[in-house]
Amino acid sequence: DAAYDMIVVSNRLPVDYERAPDGSTTWKGSPGGLVTALEPIMRTTEGAWVGWAGVADMEFDPFEHDGISIIPVPLSADELEEYYEGFSNDTLWPLYHDVIAPPSFHREWWDSYVRVNRRFAEAAARAASHGAVVWVQDYQLQLVPRMLRESRPDLVIGFFNHIPFPAYGIYSQLPWRRQVVDGLLGADVIGFQRSADAGNFTRAVRRLFGYATRGTVIDVPDGNDNVRHVVARHFPISIDAAGFEEIARRPEVQARAKEIRASLGDPKTIILGVDRLDYTKGIRHRLKAFGELLRDERLSVEDVTLVQVASPSRERVETYRLLRDEIELMVGRLNGDHSTLGHQAIAYLHHGYPREEMVALYLAADVMLVTALRDGMNLVAKEYVACRFDERGVLLLSEFTGASDELRQAVLVNPHDIEGLKDAIVEAIEMPQRERARRMRALRKRVRENDVANWSATFLKTLTGSGIIAPGVP
Ligand code: G6P
Repeated sequence: DAAYDMIVVSNRLPVDYERAPDGSTTWKGSPGGLVTALEPIMRTTEGAWVGWAGVADMEFDPFEHDGISIIPVPLSADELEEYYEGFSNDTLWPLYHDVIAPPSFHREWWDSYVRVNRRFAEAAARAASHGAVVWVQDYQLQLVPRMLRESRPDLVIGFFNHIPFPAYGIYSQLPWRRQVVDGLLGADVIGFQRSADAGNFTRAVRRLFGYATRGTVIDVPDGNDNVRHVVARHFPISIDAAGFEEIARRPEVQARAKEIRASLGDPKTIILGVDRLDYTKGIRHRLKAFGELLRDERLSVEDVTLVQVASPSRERVETYRLLRDEIELMVGRLNGDHSTLGHQAIAYLHHGYPREEMVALYLAADVMLVTALRDGMNLVAKEYVACRFDERGVLLLSEFTGASDELRQAVLVNPHDIEGLKDAIVEAIEMPQRERARRMRALRKRVRENDVANWSATFLKTLTGSGIIAPGVP
């Protein structure tokens, strides 16, 4: 087996195996933020990426893609159902997002989660050189750190949780709450998006195991009368801010933004929502508020259009199917009630788009609506800010996102408060340009300063440097 010095482990690989209708197949890069952040490090170190190729019942040999070594981990159709759709996305996802939807607990799903986590851990252990750094990503793989430490105590192990970590009162519903926390404690550094998430985790450790904690450091007994110092703290993730701005400055992208506005009939105001079609995103709340503003004639379809991009997600999970029906019923009703032959109230798009098109949409939108009920970070908010070098857009942002810890100059809202949300939408639409610019400048500064390169560098420095951050350091 190859020996890599740096290994990233995530459920999804940065490439997807795709089969075209004509039967041909390709590896398609999914240029997410994580890939952009880690690519440079993966190229300069002997790096490899361990993950699933996005299709069931297929085995692939390791290969190179754009200079990164890819080590695919296979999943069977049953595992796809039990580990991925089941335990990851119908147990952990709703539980960690404050039970917005009820989590399902099934013992077979848990068994599958354990088995698949072991497979990922074994693949990483096989690929890792002596003393290598292994960085495990997200809630699908929380048992991997402990499994790795047991088989490979020489490794330096990091974990980053991209989604929230809930308060103990909610977390403690999980029948396997001890195993999951213990799985994470196999890492040297456990990263979270918000300091509140790290606090929730540390409290869960105290409640479940009684281990001593000092600020961000947890003393974990290693079984030989020694303790390991595990760091649990926040590292808010970000985006490739310069990359987004570069695209936004391209003349053809700006021309496309104008074209989008024209195709909507050049309304005075375009409001934009961009989300995976997920119940955590508060799409219903947003539609309700917008619908009432039209009904009460505080807004008119002559002046305002809402563009809602809802990209397809986890469509085999029932909660997601029901949500789609509900959203599409609401959109249909609102359009039926309020659209005119010349003016559509809502342009609803159930698609994913390439990055250039997303940037054109961001540039076309006067107001960006982020109304998530719970969100680890929300990168869409940061992308919008990174693109608006013209300082003309307004970001309306839910307090229940990780991004709201940093983006304080957004118009902050509680999406459950429909009256407050309506007022905030009107405030955003009517905001004078001077104030828009003042806020956008501050937001842009923040996103530029804490970009994704900064995020990964800070995490890896904590992991490989001193290892211990003094209590109280932000
Ligand atoms: C969230 C999670 C990621 C996940 C992504 C897309 O951002 O934190 O781990 O990859 O959603 O969801 P999917 O289930 O399609 O991978």
